[in-house]
Amino acid sequence: MKTLLLKDNDSDIRTAAEILRRGGLVGIPTETVYGLAADALNGSAVARIFAAKGRPMDNPLIVHIAEFGDIKRFGLVSSVPESAEKLAKCFWPGPLTMIMKKSGVVPNEVSAGLDTVAIRLPGHTIARKIIRAAGTPLAAPSANLSGSPSPTTAARVIDDMNGKIDAVVDGGACEVGVESTVITLATEIPRVLRPGGVTVEQLREVIGEVEVDSAVTGKLAEGEKAASPGMKYKHYAPKIRVVLLKCGDNEYIDYVNSKGERAAALCCDEDIPRLSVRCFSLGKRGDFASHAQRLFEELRQLDEYPELDVAYARLPSTDGVGLAVYNRLIRAAGFEVIDLEKN
Ligand code: TXA
Ligand code: MG
Repeated sequence: MKTLLLKDNDSDIRTAAEILRRGGLVGIPTETVYGLAADALNGSAVARIFAAKGRPMDNPLIVHIAEFGDIKRFGLVSSVPESAEKLAKCFWPGPLTMIMKKSGVVPNEVSAGLDTVAIRLPGHTIARKIIRAAGTPLAAPSANLSGSPSPTTAARVIDDMNGKIDAVVDGGACEVGVESTVITLATEIPRVLRPGGVTVEQLREVIGEVEVDSAVTGKLAEGEKAASPGMKYKHYAPKIRVVLLKCGDNEYIDYVNSKGERAAALCCDEDIPRLSVRCFSLGKRGDFASHAQRLFEELRQLDEYPELDVAYARLPSTDGVGLAVYNRLIRAAGFEVIDLEKN
């Protein structure tokens, strides 16, 4: 299969929509990361997503819509909770996914056998144009091979998916850089299953009590059931080893500089002049939005230097959008944290 590279113009958007209507796969830009889209109401089209990504079949997909009214228009859920309306008013279009009880319209391939469906109204105008032109909601996971860092440019989608999907629409680099916040409204108290661009603090301001699933910052115990199946898999990981260091800035510099030339630093701009190893910077210290935006691209770049075999990063802060960076980085590191403060 030849993968078409499409742009943001009427004729290319129409081409993307036609491919989707006949059951094909298209890489689409969103404000978070690129998605690998198929017609969400066509079970066999959705099954192709799993094949292209090598994704485990028990990991459900997010359904993307172009306006709030699409939930009712396509009959996606049995009823829309009041909290969903409140959250949509504040955060849609944007990086928030809400899980609700699903209706019979949603194919099992999308919900992976669960009785719920995850819905998101993306902030990227090209994403909404494609959904509208296709005339159907789109199921879309991140457009990476399962386990790899998510793609934040069309070129990274091509790296993973060339020849496996029908087309990619180039919408430039993603603004947020990490995937949407996932909150379930199907539990008694709403619960964040994955942190993202909309912070836990922001959610609490709108709907009050919100729990954070233990899998967000920790590792699931052996045999423990994941509320969000995606959380149980090794994820977001480059091929080289990533290690997190719990320490202050000076300890970080000394430790990394002592590691020799096969080591790299996944660091901040301010560290660069003091480091003697190759640096991959996430931006200015404390600029969590920049760290989120650059994380996946820097993780992918680490694999472009065969002379490297380990990258050291500091354990991120869990405040605000920092929590999303923490959640991705700790998985990229396979939960390998060295506590230098203890020694
Ligand atoms: O920003 C995003 O959300 C991107 C863009 C493309 O929209 N999409 C994305 O999809 O990150 P994906 O498939 O890579 O991650 C979806 C996550 C997975 O961890 C999955 O397990 C969880 O959401 N999920 C989906 N439906 C669910 C459901 N019904 N119940 C619990 N978790 C669900
Ligand atoms: Mg993903």
